[in-house]
Order: sequence, then structure tokens, then C-alpha cells
Amino acid sequence: MRVSVESGDIARVETECVVVNLFEGVTAPGGGTGAVDRALDGMISQLITSGDIRGREGELTLLHTFGRIPAPRVLVAGLGKSGDFSVDKVRDLSANVARFLRGRRIARFATITHGAGIAGLDAAACAQALAEGAILGLYRFDRHKQRDDDAFDVESMTVVEHEAGRVGTLRAGVERGRIIAEAACWARDLSNEPGNVLTPTELAARAEAMARERGLGCRIFDREEAERMGMGAFLGIARGSAQPPKFIMLTYRGAGDEKAVGLLGKGITFDTGGISLKPNEGMQEMKGDMSGGGAVIAAMSAIAQLKLKVNVTALVPATENMPGGNAIKPTDVLRAMNGKTIEVTNTDAEGRVILADALAYAVQLDLSPVVDVATLTGAISIALGKVAYGLFTPSDALAERIQQAAERTGERCWRLPMWREYRDLNKSNVADVKNSGGRDAGSIAAAYFLREFVDDRPWAHLDIAGVDFSDADKGVLTKGATGIPVRTLVALVEDLADRPL
Ligand code: BES
Ligand code: MN
Ligand code: ZN
Repeated sequence: MRVSVESGDIARVETECVVVNLFEGVTAPGGGTGAVDRALDGMISQLITSGDIRGREGELTLLHTFGRIPAPRVLVAGLGKSGDFSVDKVRDLSANVARFLRGRRIARFATITHGAGIAGLDAAACAQALAEGAILGLYRFDRHKQRDDDAFDVESMTVVEHEAGRVGTLRAGVERGRIIAEAACWARDLSNEPGNVLTPTELAARAEAMARERGLGCRIFDREEAERMGMGAFLGIARGSAQPPKFIMLTYRGAGDEKAVGLLGKGITFDTGGISLKPNEGMQEMKGDMSGGGAVIAAMSAIAQLKLKVNVTALVPATENMPGGNAIKPTDVLRAMNGKTIEVTNTDAEGRVILADALAYAVQLDLSPVVDVATLTGAISIALGKVAYGLFTPSDALAERIQQAAERTGERCWRLPMWREYRDLNKSNVADVKNSGGRDAGSIAAAYFLREFVDDRPWAHLDIAGVDFSDADKGVLTKGATGIPVRTLVALVEDLADRPL
């Protein structure tokens, strides 16, 4: 879908549908809604008086204009109470509106910028949310389906602004929104792809193609190179698979020779559990076990397009976790590239093992801060459900930055503690650490395991298991992969560019 900004009068636009809005309790609409209402001889205000339009959040009323204005239809979108309104609501509303209009087979529509007139809401941020919402909300993954008769695509959304002087600001917001939302949709594609399509080799190929297009540096380490680098933890997990593992490294240089921020992501392209095999019910979501890696790679695409003044290096160890004849067994001991040994007591706790080498490599590359993203533990969705992802870091300063970035994007996160007492959960009798303990504090134990490999540098871990897939279309989320936390990562890196940690 194309998104553009034009100056003009929303009541005079020639398009299939014009989208205006209404706050709850308003009886005489102003702004763009007022202009359309006047052009329609008071139709909207009459429907408010009669109680047909109430402006409730989520309310969508489609009106037919029969030649009174150039657009044959007007959609009045309820915004809810003006005191509760926010940029998050603009984003979700825009997604719901775009899906509603697609359902009505409307290919081209025009809209006013919801919220931009309200005190406190930044016009550029509202325009960004409008573009993000529509692009994210219209996302679907249908490349493995035959095209059916119901399939219909929205071609364009035009944001119409009556004050010509504001068009530049809105255009900049829309362009940012487009870049970020398209990156998140690309991350969704990677997670939605079945494991037989998105093998480690294919993930590496897609990352490499993206890097070439965006001008990023890219190196893919194969099994032999990873072996030479000493990545015994990563390669241990890869041993059960017939698919060759790939360690993906992307580099973006926007700030000369400053230290680079590290974005690390778990890249398990399918997690069967290995010899500690999962039951089938729990296994289907495991095609998305590279969602952390996918999010990191997609964020690099947006960071490059936004030309942020910062250096960033992304590391994604990619492999399947399979129970092959050569697979590691529970109690096997692996050696990570920093020399630490890991007793693998459960081959299904594979994410932390491959990340051990990625973290050790991040230390060797002197990346700072380091943020890793992983679908790491089922326990995090027991704790936080599908509402928020888990944030783990010993650094209050970094926690605050991430919480603020998540807040700005509407991707919720919640910090969990990393008290020293939890360290004991990973004590092994035979190695430096073990990869899984009991049922207690499963997500914190996993985070503490990762902490063993970062040598006290500023580091945070985001456990996205639970929020990586959505059950339904709801606001910016669509059924299937969510692309969380691509938008948080971009917002965070943007903030670090302005204000280093
Ligand atoms: N990829 C899974 C975690 C997961 C679970 C992601 C549900 C998305 C949805 C991870 O590799 C795993 O299997 N974790 C185990 C760890 C346990 C064996 C210590 C888990 O959570 O059960
Ligand atoms: Mn697992
Ligand atoms: Zn896993």
C-alpha cells in the first residue's frame, strides 16, 4: 500500500472513501470532520443527535454521500474520550480502519490525521502512527496460498492536511512510519515462513540480500568458520540437524569509529526440542523460534534507511534444533568461545546456549550496550501472557531507555529482577554452568545464564516468547507473527544515537 500526504480540503478529495473522526461526547464536530459535516448538510451532526454516532472508541460508521461531495463514502471513526487519547490509539485505530475498508473492497482512501489537532499530541508522531497502523494492520501472510476471490488489496492511503505549512512535518512522520512498519512486516514474514522454507541458509540469504540493498556490511560464518572461532556452544546445538548452521553478522556504520551498539537475536529456525523432544502441540509455534533474530535483522534494515547517527552490529546465530543421530544428549558438555563450559541438561533449552557464543563474540567485538532478543522461555508467557515481553538487565539506566522506547511504540515490556540469588539456579556439578534447572523462575534463570557470558558490560535481554505470535487481528497486530520488538529496537537505537548510554 502507498501512503502519501497532500494539502487540501478533506471534503473536496476525490477518492473512494474519506475517513474523519469524532470524540465521544462531541455534538458539533470541528476540523476536518466539521468540514465534511457541512458539505453533507449536517448529516454527521444529525446522526450524532439521533444517537447513531456516539464517537465511542472502535466505533466505525460508514455513510454514503450520493454526490454531495466528490467521495462516495465517508467513514466516521470513533476516538473515545478525548482525555484518554494517545498516539497508541491512533496506531490501532488506523489499523482497524484500514482492515475495515479492505473488507469493504475499498482500494483508495483519504484520511485526516487523527489526534494531530489535540493538545499534547505531536503531529509528526500522529502521522507516523497513522502510517504504521495502516501498514501493520493490513499485513497478511498469503504467499503459500492460491489467490482466492476474497483476496483484495488496499492500494493507497492519502493523508490530507488543510494547513499547507504542516505538510512537511506530516510527510516526515509518514515516511518514518512506513520504513519502520515495513521492517516489522518483513520480520513477520520471516517468522511466519515454515521451517522447511526458512532454513538457516535461507535466513542468512535473506539477511544478505537485505544488507546489499540497504548498504549494510554482512558476513555469514559457516560451520567451519564458527569452529575456528571456537563457537562450541552454537555448533553443539547445530549437531542434530542436517541443515548447515549460519552465524549472521550485519554491520551499520552511521557514526564513524564510535563503539557499536550490539543487537543480538536467537535464530532457531525450528525448535523440536532436540533429544529432549517437545510434544507435538507445543511444537507448531516453533517455526517462529527465530523471531528474535528476525526482529534484529529487520531493525537493521530500518536503522539503515533512517540513516541514524550511530554504529550498530547485529549478531544472529541461526540453526535448527533437531534430534538427529549426531545430536547432543542431556548431560553433554559444550565449550563456548569465551572458554566457559556448559552442561546441557535439557537440549530444549537451546536458545541460551547459542546466544552464549553470540554474547561472547559481542564482548570480543567490544559492542556496547548489548541487547539480545529471544523467544527464550515458555515461562515468560506464563508470567506476562501475550501482553508484554520480559525485560532483564542489571542496568537501571539501560532498563529505563528500553522501557521508554517500548512505551513510545506501544510494544509493552515489563522488567523482572536479576538478584544475585537467582545465579544458583544454573550451578552445574560438572561444568561452569548448566543450561536448565528446575521449574522455579524459568525466565530469570535463562536470563542469568546469558549474563554469565557478557562480562558485566551494559546488557539487556528481551524474552519475547508469548508476544511473538498473535491469535487474532487486533489493532496493529494481525493473526500470526507480530514483528515485536522491531519498533522498540529502532526507537531504542534512535535514542542511543541522540544520547549515548
Ligand atoms: N523456544 C522455546 C521457548 C518458547 C516456548 C518459545 C513457547 C515460544 C513459545 C525454548 O527453546 C524452550 O524450549 N524453552 C524451554 C526451556 C526449558 C527446557 C528449561 C521451555 O520454556 O520450556
Ligand atoms: Mn527449546
Ligand atoms: Zn527455542
